[in-house]
Amino acid sequence: MQFTFEKLTKEHDRAGFECGVPELDFYLKNQAGQDMRRNLSSVIVLLEDDKTIVGYYTLSQNAITAQELPENVAKKLPAQRPVSCTLLGRLAVDVHHQGQGIGRILLFHALRKAAVISKEIAAFAVIVDAKDLQAKKFYEKYNFLELQHEPLRLFIPIRMLKL
Ligand SMILES: CC(C)(COP(=O)(O)OP(=O)(O)OC[C@H]1O[C@@H](n2cnc3c(N)ncnc32)[C@H](O)[C@@H]1OP(=O)(O)O)[C@@H](O)C(=O)NCCC(=O)NCCS
Repeated sequence: MQFTFEKLTKEHDRAGFECGVPELDFYLKNQAGQDMRRNLSSVIVLLEDDKTIVGYYTLSQNAITAQELPENVAKKLPAQRPVSCTLLGRLAVDVHHQGQGIGRILLFHALRKAAVISKEIAAFAVIVDAKDLQAKKFYEKYNFLELQHEPLRLFIPIRMLKL
């Protein structure tokens, strides 16, 4: 078995992808291509043997305010203007491949990309939107922290990423 990362294109067969969260399946099948074409999100797929999509994630640039961050983090940041960050908006693994370390591989690939890009286009943190409490636990395992007033939105400062 061979795994490769690619940017989503028309050639990728998305029909069979199912991760257990209909919204994330719908996105990959119906919206992701358009987001790529409009340059709204980068959609990266993980392929098994060059054909089956076993997982995907999306990255885009975003911003947060210091007020959204915990006080001990916010106090070192400007209070009056938004702080640049990278948004890991979606991450999903096909149900037939869950529990095999694929989610971790996708997350680390996304974080590495965010960290590399931050050297050219500054970003303070990576933000993730967990779809539910289960997904939130997955991110917390990798040291993501809750944003203020948004229990399913988490962050990790880029400087915490050891790559
Ligand atoms: C959440 C999800 C991405 C995890 O992917 P996965 O491939 O099953 O996870 P992995 O096998 O890589 O697990 C890596 C580690 O995280 C842990 N883990 C996985 N899912 C977890 C969860 N929901 N809660 C807590 N820990 C979790 C695993 O036990 C494993 O820990 P270990 O290394 O100590 O054994 C996957 O279940 C999924 O796609 N779910 C539906 C979509 C979703 O919720 N996406 C995330 C939010 S947008």
